[in-house]
Amino acid sequence: MAHVGLWIYQNGGGDRIEARLVQLLREMGHSSTTGLNLRYAVAESGKMLFNGVNLYDELDIFFSYNAGEQTVYQVYMYEQLDRHIPCINNFDAFRISEDKFKTNDLLRSAGIRTADYFLCHREDVETIRAKVLEWGKAVFKTVDGWGGIGMALVDSKDKLDMILPFLNQTDLRFFYIERFIDYDGSDFRVDLVDGEFIACYGRKAREGDWRTNVTSGGSVILRDDCGDEVIRLAQRAAAAIGIEIAGVDIIYDREREEYVVLEINGIPAFATPEQEAMGLNFNEKKVQKIAELIDRKVKNG
Ligand SMILES: Nc1ncnc2c1ncn2[C@@H]1O[C@H](COP(=O)(O)OP(=O)(O)O)[C@@H](O)[C@H]1O
Ligand SMILES: [Mg+2]
Repeated sequence: MAHVGLWIYQNGGGDRIEARLVQLLREMGHSSTTGLNLRYAVAESGKMLFNGVNLYDELDIFFSYNAGEQTVYQVYMYEQLDRHIPCINNFDAFRISEDKFKTNDLLRSAGIRTADYFLCHREDVETIRAKVLEWGKAVFKTVDGWGGIGMALVDSKDKLDMILPFLNQTDLRFFYIERFIDYDGSDFRVDLVDGEFIACYGRKAREGDWRTNVTSGGSVILRDDCGDEVIRLAQRAAAAIGIEIAGVDIIYDREREEYVVLEINGIPAFATPEQEAMGLNFNEKKVQKIAELIDRKVKNG
């Protein structure tokens, strides 16, 4: 009935997830075209062409799920495609989730706890200096970073004096900092599809590190302490930015004794074969919910 365009990462078991999704969609009566990396699309006089096929006419919906191969050009085309056909995630929410300031700003307005943050123009050096000294411990971040890369923990005046001239050499337009949260070095990752709870697991920072990212030496852990409060918080956060598929990262602030949303990932990975072997078994449920979401969207728009 509907023609679904898919672009899904292929490494870490993504190819098998894709095959399963195509199968589920077929059982629902939908056909699929895979491998639609918009990096290779062109636009011409009212059309967006991929291998000579006009995506505006041929596709009923587009599912974009490939963080690793994302490019500026591909995102640019995704933005425009989203104006013609429904996309998952919808582009606006995707864009917000890619930006830590925009996400936290909207979460705060929705009354959801995030790290305290502060943002100002790069020329307001005295302002940022005063803020860091006020907090005592601050994390400098790029708003669109990932993997725990490009962040600096500043907990002394010396470190502050070291980092400010360095940041001045970069082409960052503004400073973005967060108040450092005192937590136990582990986080909660709550996986949601269409507002529905799929799974909760966690990551643990490497000994001596304050970042839980696997890319920064952290490891994935099973969690049996993911209660309703954490799940509800994640659901409210995803709803606040209007995102369909989300991996919401949450940590527990030991000082203020409350859960805090750290970020929302719009392309949270499925469990890899190795993670499945250690007991993360949510992939089938997640791919089914995604198929249902696609089916619902093509039927109801
Ligand atoms: N404000 C903070 N206080 C304490 N730890 C933090 C803070 N911000 C980030 N971290 C740690 O660093 C990790 C990476 O930060 P995050 O904002 O999620 O960036 P990324 O997009 O690179 O994953 C988090 O998972 C957490 O372990
Ligand atoms: Mg993160």
